[in-house]
Parts: sequence; C-alpha cells; structure tokens
Amino acid sequence: MHELIEGRWSARGYDPAATISVANLTTIVDAGRWAPTWGRMQPVRFVVGRRGDATFDALTGVLTRGNSGWAPRAAALVLVCTTDRPDDPKEHTYAAVDVGLAVSQMILQAEALGFNGHPMAGFDAAAATAAFDIPADKRPLVLLGIGALVEDTASLPEDIRDRDERPRTRLTLDEVAFAGRWGRPAFTAPDA
Ligand SMILES: Cc1cc2nc3c(=O)[nH]c(=O)nc-3n(C[C@H](O)[C@H](O)[C@H](O)COP(=O)(O)O)c2cc1C
Repeated sequence: MHELIEGRWSARGYDPAATISVANLTTIVDAGRWAPTWGRMQPVRFVVGRRGDATFDALTGVLTRGNSGWAPRAAALVLVCTTDRPDDPKEHTYAAVDVGLAVSQMILQAEALGFNGHPMAGFDAAAATAAFDIPADKRPLVLLGIGALVEDTASLPEDIRDRDERPRTRLTLDEVAFAGRWGRPAFTAPDA
C-alpha cells in the first residue's frame, strides 16, 4: 500500500502553536478541487479557515462538544459542502460521493505535506450554514481539520492522548471483499 495511505490516521493531538502556510493550504484545497465528480458536475465547495482568521474562529464555534476540545488545535479547518438536492436522488447521492472523494484527496495531500487531516461530521451544520450564508442548494457535510502533530505526546491533555493511543482496527479483508457471491472472500488475506 502507498505510504500516504498506510501512514494516514485521524489524529487529535495537534500542536496548537503550529501553522500552515497559505501555499500548503491552497495545495490541499486544490487537491480536493481536482477530485473526480459524477458527470463532472463539480458540486463541492470549500469554506477555508486558517488559525488566526475570522473564518477559522467561526468554524471553531460550530464544533460539537466531542470535537471542540481538540479540533481548535488544528492549523486549518475546511468546511466541505456539496449540492443538496433531495428532489433529485441521483444528483443528491453522487454529490455526497463527490464530497467524500474530495475529502480523501485533501487528506492524502495534507499527509504528503506533513500535515494530518481529520474529517468531522460533529459540527452544527445549521449554524455553519447561517454563519457563512451557505445557499439553500448546498449543505456542509464534512469539516476537515488539518494539523501538525505535537512532537512530545506527553505534553498533550490526557483525554486527547488517550484517544490518539487507542488501537486502530478494521474489519478483515475477507469480511468486506467478496467474489463469486456475497460473503465469499475475494482474497485469502494473511491479515487485516
Ligand atoms: C464522515 C466522517 C465523519 C467523521 N466525524 C468525526 C468526528 O466528528 N469526530 C472525530 O473525532 N472523528 C470523526 N471521524 C473520524 C473517524 O472516527 C475515523 O476516521 C475512524 O475512527 C477511523 O480512524 P482512522 O481515520 O484513524 O483510520 C469521521 C470520519 C468520517 C469519514
């Protein structure tokens, strides 16, 4: 597996003093812009906050409790929005797929630049919509934290350190990848 994929994880122990340059943040958002979209519809939009600016402060204000302890330590927060068309099930479905692809590319680009990307659903979408005048045909779906990991994890608040130290697990390959018929493993995987 590519090292960027293997090395990626959703960290919380960000260095609250670390910053990200405008050039690096531009590259990360641009990586999202270049993600594939259904029918090249390009439904995804980004609201970009860099620590210290008003957009960042407004984004920290919409975090839910589970994220408000660690996510403000990020160097940037990017609200990723997509088309909201429940009346058009196909467009609605693929607009959500498109946002996932954009976020995934942004996370890998962040990783390549030495930053960690952590996607969040835990924010108040209505408050974000009001704060940024998001139009009625768009909805914010993911808030992406982009941060630099602290060098000394002993310096982290205990709750953040504990969560970061939890083992990362996945279903095994034979539980998720099938061939022939549903449930029959596609691979004889040595491990997960
Ligand atoms: C759509 C989505 C929403 C998520 N929302 C949150 C969140 O609100 N807070 C949080 O700490 N992590 C959130 N996560 C991160 C997941 O918890 C994490 O990806 C998962 O536990 C796997 O861990 P890993 O990314 O380190 O492999 C979210 C991930 C996704 C894809």
